[in-house]
Amino acid sequence: MLNLKNQNWENTPTPFYYYDLELLNQTVTLAHQEAARYGYHVHYALKANSNAPILKTMQQYGFGADCVSGNEIKQALANGFGADQIVFAGVGKSDAEIKIALDADIFCFNCESVQELEIINELAAQQNTTAWIALRINPNVNANTHKYITTGLEENKFGINTWELPEVLTLLNQLTHLEFIGIHFHIGSQITDLQVFEQLCVRVNEIQQWFREQGFNLKHLNVGGGLGVDYYTPENNAIPDFAAYFAIFNRLLEVQPGQVVHFELGRALVAQCGALISRVLYIKKGQKKNFAILDAGMTELIRPMLYQAHHKIENLSSNLPEQTYDVVGPICESSDCFAQNVVLPETHRHDVIAIRTAGAYGEVMASNYNLREKATAIYSSN
Ligand code: LLP
Repeated sequence: MLNLKNQNWENTPTPFYYYDLELLNQTVTLAHQEAARYGYHVHYALKANSNAPILKTMQQYGFGADCVSGNEIKQALANGFGADQIVFAGVGKSDAEIKIALDADIFCFNCESVQELEIINELAAQQNTTAWIALRINPNVNANTHKYITTGLEENKFGINTWELPEVLTLLNQLTHLEFIGIHFHIGSQITDLQVFEQLCVRVNEIQQWFREQGFNLKHLNVGGGLGVDYYTPENNAIPDFAAYFAIFNRLLEVQPGQVVHFELGRALVAQCGALISRVLYIKKGQKKNFAILDAGMTELIRPMLYQAHHKIENLSSNLPEQTYDVVGPICESSDCFAQNVVLPETHRHDVIAIRTAGAYGEVMASNYNLREKATAIYSSN
């Protein structure tokens, strides 16, 4: 688990993100080992954390890159990923971003709408090239997760609906600058109920069967990411159960000879390896509540405010008897609260506070609201 207690951060300005590269290596080793058992290809979802040392680790393990913007493609290339390892997803790829991907000659576009297929074809024709594409299909499977990070239901904006597929196949026959290589799914994030992935396999099998009936043998199946992590007791279960996760697909996903199966994991690979480290600026005693006001806020980690996400909070400086606090940030918003009624050892100005499991969707979602400085990143091996 991420070891925070024995660090000497006396003179280190806060807030900062702390990443344990040793734990990252352990996590990635396990994920790689379990995926390799079945010959699965893992693409790391850069959107979770796109810092160079993290990307270099992913790349060294032979993972590909799942990108959702032109800048993510550039960042992946700059950190050693081969263009042939890059997939490009997203419901709103701009023309400029599509051109970046075509210029780089990436492995595959995961296409999300009929119109997007037409535009990629048009831009590929202009560049006298062919784009490899997978259709992102909305399987209508409920991921049992927060509604803001559920993506595979018909009411979500993502993917092509199954009832559109006959039209899409007709269109694909006409779009001569596209090469249709497979299908792609991603049903949501922070999925802890693994049965959801069983349902996904069933749907992918049905959809594949339909394609076979239409005379298409798909070379690639991409089942996306979404494996969740333990935000509540990170000390018990730092590394997600990759063995159980991949075993579900091995048991239930029908794979034809020669077919390649791809995954796009983000959070499960990095969340537990990072923490947001902050100091207490003030303790404010109210009639009803005590507030611990930190020097980090929603600008550094917005997940608690945006999704009511739970992140474990620890006071690394105090061993005094416990008290209850609302742990809040300095931003001028009432929603700038990491958690209410947190039991911590009695807390004082300048105590160091760790907000755990912040390695994924923490730093990448930071803003400079209130004209705040961007917090730095510190790595365990520094
Ligand atoms: N593939 C696609 C197409 C995705 O949209 C995503 C995440 C992933 C892969 C990686 O999913 P993961 O393995 O990390 O669950 N900001 C939110 C999470 C948004 C996830 C968006 N898509 C949060 O902080 O919970």
